[in-house]
Amino acid sequence: MGTNDPGSYDVVGIGFGPANLALAIALEERQDALTARFFERKAALGWHRDMLVPSAKMQVSFLKDLVTFRNPASRFSFVSYLHAKNRLARFANKHDFFPTRMEFHDYLEWAETQFRDRVVYSADVLGLRLPERAEPGGPVDRLRVDVRRNGPDGPVSTEYARNVVISTGLVPRMPLAIERDRSVWHSSEFLSRFNGRDRASLRRVAVVGAGQSAAELTRFLYDELPDSTVYALMPSYGYAIADNTPFANEVFDPAAVDDYHAGSRRAKEATWRYHSNTNYSVVDDEVLASLYARAYDDEVSERHRLRFLRLSRATGVKQVADTAVVTYHSLETERSADLTVDAVVFATGYEAMSPERILGEAEPYCLRHPDGSLLVGRDYRLVTSPELRCGIYLQGGTEHTHGLASSLLSNLAMRGGDIAESLVEHSAHRSLSASPGQAVPSGRP
Ligand code: FDA
Ligand code: NAP
Repeated sequence: MGTNDPGSYDVVGIGFGPANLALAIALEERQDALTARFFERKAALGWHRDMLVPSAKMQVSFLKDLVTFRNPASRFSFVSYLHAKNRLARFANKHDFFPTRMEFHDYLEWAETQFRDRVVYSADVLGLRLPERAEPGGPVDRLRVDVRRNGPDGPVSTEYARNVVISTGLVPRMPLAIERDRSVWHSSEFLSRFNGRDRASLRRVAVVGAGQSAAELTRFLYDELPDSTVYALMPSYGYAIADNTPFANEVFDPAAVDDYHAGSRRAKEATWRYHSNTNYSVVDDEVLASLYARAYDDEVSERHRLRFLRLSRATGVKQVADTAVVTYHSLETERSADLTVDAVVFATGYEAMSPERILGEAEPYCLRHPDGSLLVGRDYRLVTSPELRCGIYLQGGTEHTHGLASSLLSNLAMRGGDIAESLVEHSAHRSLSASPGQAVPSGRP
């Protein structure tokens, strides 16, 4: 079934974060002999490395690892990892379903070592193109994938794919008209920026936002800079708790993806309306409690290092000498004011994955809903016009079709399995239906 020509693959995965790692495992465990190659922009596997602050914990149970929901007996499970590291008994003794993010990162790296032969790092996928000799309106059996190697000035190579799986992840979001610079950071780059600065130069720092990133970084800065003032500039009155209760948590179950995909527009809207507080602009109870304890200690010591600017949104930043002057609008006073700090972190969230730039010349084949969003099958395959016989799958960017778990880890194991199954089924169907007159070419197009 598989393609064996060099530079030509049954499956090309774009990005190698947890989502495509889970897919690589699912393909490996099926043993269907589909050839797969993954291209990753980074030089090595890294899962939000710049947010790996000490004691930050996972927001999903360790059972929602890369495989367990699909194959509880997999050798790539978190439990297998603990066993390999000789820590299973001690992990169990902790009575805690939520590992630290550092430990989960170590698990991902452990799993990744077993797939290195299939991953090309420092490889930035620029986009998809049609084959050189594609006839207008004729069938397209393969796509060209342009890949730039080794940095922005590196050479561009072309790979050929029968199927593409786009898993390029979330995109950091800054408020409109605010640019990053030496003192203006997004949370996604936090540790690199923080470690690049002399701590003594950070006497006043601000964190903008009231989500999990904001709360974790506010706590981190308060602990790491014991002589500094930390401002928490937040749009709400206080941090709100992430709903992690069992009924609400069912929204991340595999069955909820079926329900959402088949559901009406109003059902989808209601799901978001009632359950976005499981994930967006909310904070885990443990981080909330520990931040409140610090604020309380401030009261006792009368040092007031942690200052809350409530009901406020940042609207602009100016660089003045070595400082950042943050302009914000407060709903308490209904006025704008300035805050001068040595650095400001915008923990203002992320945009969902958008496949548009990658789709390139394949984009006109992709069918859309009346509102312009992409049509995506339950198997995460883009619905395309019939001439495009290649599969294009999305891991992420499917919030409108597959619901709240689209960008999260909760469903990775099942989703990887669903995509692997679809890839194999389409491949088998194509092999059967290819008549001598329209044989699938074995070489490059
Ligand atoms: P991810 O972003 O991890 O990987 C995408 C990869 O694609 C990246 O490595 C990127 O370099 C690469 N890439 C992008 N464009 C490319 C291109 N053109 N060419 C080649 N490579 C390209 N969710 C959850 O369920 N539980 C949790 O505990 C957390 N924790 C968490 C912490 C933090 C700090 C954040 C910001 C987010 C989370 N999340 C989360 C949500 C998060 O989206 C999720 O954990 C995974 O990162 C999703 O994995 P993906 O592989 O989809 O994206
Ligand atoms: P988020 O949940 O989207 O929160 C962004 C916050 O920024 C919101 O409070 C938002 O308020 C606020 N904001 C946006 N623009 C603003 C402005 N101009 N002024 C003031 N506030 C502004 O983003 P996140 O906290 O980065 O979380 C993103 C994802 O990563 C979530 O899935 C989260 O669970 C995950 N995460 C996980 C961990 C972990 O596993 N430990 C750590 C960090 C993040 P509005 O909502 O009002 O716009």
